[in-house]
Order: sequence, then C-alpha cells, then structure tokens
Amino acid sequence: MKEKLELIKEHALKELKEAVDGTQLDNIRVKYLGKKGELTQILRGMGAVSEEERPVIGKIANEVRESLENFIQEASESIKKAEKDIKLQNEVIDITMPGIRQTMGKRHPLELTLDRMKDIFISMGFTIEEGPEVELDYYNFEALNIPKNHPARGEQDTFYINDTVVLRTQTSPVQIRTMEKQKPPIKMVCPGKVYRADAVDASHSPIFYQMEGLVVDKGITFADLKGTLEQYAKKMFGEDVKTKFRPHHFPFTEPSAEMDASCFVCHGKGCKLCKGSGWIEILGCGMVHPDVLRNGGIDPEVYSGFAFGFGVDRMVMMKYAIDDIRLLYESDMRFLNQF
Ligand code: DAH
Repeated sequence: MKEKLELIKEHALKELKEAVDGTQLDNIRVKYLGKKGELTQILRGMGAVSEEERPVIGKIANEVRESLENFIQEASESIKKAEKDIKLQNEVIDITMPGIRQTMGKRHPLELTLDRMKDIFISMGFTIEEGPEVELDYYNFEALNIPKNHPARGEQDTFYINDTVVLRTQTSPVQIRTMEKQKPPIKMVCPGKVYRADAVDASHSPIFYQMEGLVVDKGITFADLKGTLEQYAKKMFGEDVKTKFRPHHFPFTEPSAEMDASCFVCHGKGCKLCKGSGWIEILGCGMVHPDVLRNGGIDPEVYSGFAFGFGVDRMVMMKYAIDDIRLLYESDMRFLNQF
C-alpha cells in the first residue's frame, strides 16, 4: 500500500513537470484527485486495511494528497505567469515607430456655398424642402407647364428611367410637391442635385446643383420677388452689389425674368469673368403661372406667388474663380485641400 502511494506521487509529479497549460493541469488533477482518481480510490479502500496499519497508511495518503495539491497549485501559478509573459511580449508597442499620418477632410466648396445660401434664406424666414432625384415625368415637366412636345424638354436633355420616370432635370418639381403638401403661406427653398444628358466639358456636367425657391401667399407681387432676391444678392455678394432683371421666358412663370448681379471682381467695369459686360447672370425667376398654382392645388384667384432657381455650381465657380466645373466632381484632394 505504502509503495503504491509513493508510486502514485512519483508518476503524478513527473506528469506535473511536463504539463504546459491549464488544460493539462486539470487533466492531471482529475486523474489523481478527482472522484474516480487514483489517490481517491485508495483513500476509499482504507476500510480493507488492518486497524494497526490504518493510521500509518492514512497519514501517508493524506501527505501524498496534500503535496500533490501543493504541486498542482504551484504549477498552475507558474503556467499562468508564463502565459502572461508571452502575452505581454506579443503586445509590446514600439513607441519609436513612425506614425501613420491622418489626413483631415475638408468641406467641399459646393457644400460651403450651399450652406451660405441656405443660411441667408433661413434668416429671411424660408424653410428648406427636399424632393426625390428620381422623379416622375409629371412633376418634372407636365405639372410645370412643359407638355410632351414642348421645346423646353429638348433644351433639358433628359435621362429617362422609363416613359414616366426621369432623373430630375431641375429642382422646380419640388415647387409642385411642396404645394401639394403645404397650404399657403409657403416660403421655401430647395437645394439639390439635378441631372442632364450633357456632354462633359469645362462648363457642363451631367450632374450639377440647383436651388429652387417658392413663395406663395395672398397678395404676393413682383415687388416681393425683386425685394427678396436683391436682399439675397446683398447678403451673398456684399452691400454694394447691384442687380438687374431682364425679361425672359420660363414655362412655369409669367412674367419671367433673369437676374444679373454686378460683377464682384470688377464691380461693373468689365473683366474676364463677366466677359466685359460688368454683369453676371445669377438666376431665373418669375411670378408662378396660374396653371402651376392650380396643379399644386392652390386657387390662383386667391393666391399668387413667385419662384426662382439658381445654378449653384456657377456661384461656386464665380466665388472661387474656378474655370472648370469638372473639378467640383472629381474628388481630387489637390483641388479640394485649397478650400
Ligand atoms: N428650372 C429652371 C432651369 O432649370 C430655373 C428656374 C427659372 C427656376 C425660373 C424657377 C424659375 O423657379 O422661376 O433652368
């Protein structure tokens, strides 16, 4: 019995020395000290030992168990320490290594300009509206007095999705959508992307930005239109800017006009930017056509309104003296970092 106990201790210690991880340790513990473990079996069989031998064997058996438990504890601690050392070694950070430069993004000049425009109109009590870029032919053309055979459709080379759905060629459809949703007084601007099947060159891009405006209430006149847009021009280009309105034609306004602003490079003297004229075309505008009000569910006998539409890209190009529209859409950091 005594020899058997010594043998168990010897085997167990040998196995413990070879154990390299927690799982192996656990297996050894179960093998010797577990419920069905070798040492446990012996302690259970003590009944069969003679009465004189029992205290002696019992003492040895307990000693063996105790020393096994101690060894297991020690081995477990040293394995844990070794594992931690390896982990620490692997996680070492070399603070002398060169870092990875983080490039800071910049706000796009189109966005900067749009934000400025929006701020000005918000300060005058306008709301900001949105509309879909994939638009029904009805809203983009029909409801704006541009029927199927109208020459204005030709001028606005359209991307058709199918017979009734287009990529909007202008932000004007948001006029109709807003009138359908809201009752007068309406005072809104709508900035957004528009699409035209134009060949790309220095002044044409198939995607560009417009900002639409619509005001509808009782007793709105052309004087309100002029006052509002002159006020806008002063806030955008400076108090000393001059504006002038030229008669024009748009199917959805009557009368219609285009607004020019005095050139903010030469202040009206004539330069390269204004092509010697002293004036720069800023927007199209007019009094909302009675049929368009009707299409928006508004009675033109009771209400009147004015509308306007900017080409935002042109504003950006003039403001920052950019001579090629493609630069605004190419995401070239060498260009964008200048703003
Ligand atoms: N939608 C016109 C265009 O794309 C611009 C425009 C002109 C909008 C006059 C208007 C307006 O609201 O009244 O050329």
